Amino acid sequence: MTKTFFIETWGCQMNDLDSQRLSGSLKLRGYRRVESEGEADLILLNTCSIRDKSEQKVFSHLGRLRELKSEREELKIGVCGCVAQQEGEAILHRAPWVDFVMGPGNVGHLDQILSGGRKVAIDFPDDRNYDYLTVDRPSGTKAQVTIIEGCNKNCTFCIVPTTRGREVSRPFDDVLREVQAAVASGRVEIELLGQTVNAYRCPVTGCDFGALLSAVAEIDNVARLRFMTSHPAEVNDSMIAAMRGHENISRYLHLPVQSGSSKILRRMKRLYTREHYLETIGRIREAIPEIHFSTDVIVGFPGETEEDFEQTLSLIAEVRYGSMFAFKYSPRPGTPALKIGAPVDDVIASERLNRVFDLHERIKRETLDSYRGRILDVLVEGPSKHDATMLTGRTDDNVVVNFRTDSSPLPGSMLGVRIEQARHHTLRGEAVA
Ligand code: 5AD
Repeated sequence: MTKTFFIETWGCQMNDLDSQRLSGSLKLRGYRRVESEGEADLILLNTCSIRDKSEQKVFSHLGRLRELKSEREELKIGVCGCVAQQEGEAILHRAPWVDFVMGPGNVGHLDQILSGGRKVAIDFPDDRNYDYLTVDRPSGTKAQVTIIEGCNKNCTFCIVPTTRGREVSRPFDDVLREVQAAVASGRVEIELLGQTVNAYRCPVTGCDFGALLSAVAEIDNVARLRFMTSHPAEVNDSMIAAMRGHENISRYLHLPVQSGSSKILRRMKRLYTREHYLETIGRIREAIPEIHFSTDVIVGFPGETEEDFEQTLSLIAEVRYGSMFAFKYSPRPGTPALKIGAPVDDVIASERLNRVFDLHERIKRETLDSYRGRILDVLVEGPSKHDATMLTGRTDDNVVVNFRTDSSPLPGSMLGVRIEQARHHTLRGEAVA
């Protein structure tokens, strides 16, 4: 009988893609994917430890799996991802019903682990064994492609350098081959991934991120090219020129600022000041006036005063981000920020977080409202989930559009849609002939 597996995924795009790789490699070995834990012979939890809350979720989930394991001795449970990397063997002590622990460096080496060779695999092998032909992509129109793993920045709040290791870029040609294969299978939207995607440097030729962006954008039938996450200090002319020179590169850039106060940015070791960040935004806007930005913000970092926080608000208002992710600072084990001091009082941090959300909500509302009456390019994804008479797709700046049409455009095609209505977070309209 074929074996079955279930994967639960938390966290970032890199984790999503790791799960797609794990799933593909299991299917290649004859496993069948199931949608409930009760039916599975193998359960993988692909975990996130970016904030304490994400980590706690994993342990409470493991608590629930204990019973399942006691009912079915042959069930195998593996903890993967960043909590696995961070906690290693300690997971086996805390939850002895777990069979193995496997960090992000070992996604390509699942075989060895499943065959019982290793119970704790948290090294970063030189050969990551990235088998792109077996990635189990959930979307028929979009493919995510890793170009660089790990991070060499040492932001004081961040666990990623511990959990994902030092930067390793994939060879240029390897990336191009993966994109070509993805496009050949109908995935016309490509998203290049890396914790610091724009620090990419080909290990063979030394080509930089801008060169890679251009080469990928010039592959036939790449309809839309996205990438994330860019570090503000790594934005350079080559990257901007590549974006400007290729219309299929999305005019939408995720550029996490974290704070609007230079004092806090210095304590975070972000390697830029407020002024430098705004200058970078200005430089990109000058080259590509239609650009939209999105960002990540942390509130309540140790030493953040009301004035520091207000600088974050004023920066958000100045840049007018199309979308934004904001978090309360969460102390992470082993990070340098632990020594800087205590986080801001939780009640104050929560209140700051709400003020950030309120401000951004207003900006988002105004942006979406301004789309009414305009015709936007929409990449069709398929039927709308909520209304079978409509299709759904996304704008270049990643807003979901539900729309009516008399024709039957295929998923992956690009259409003009006249926007009629701006809803809470989505748009509605009608395709134009
Ligand atoms: N506490 C809160 N937020 C964090 N992030 C990273 N580390 C922490 C932390 N310790 C946020 C940053 C990053 C995003 C992915 O998660 O904003 O850009």
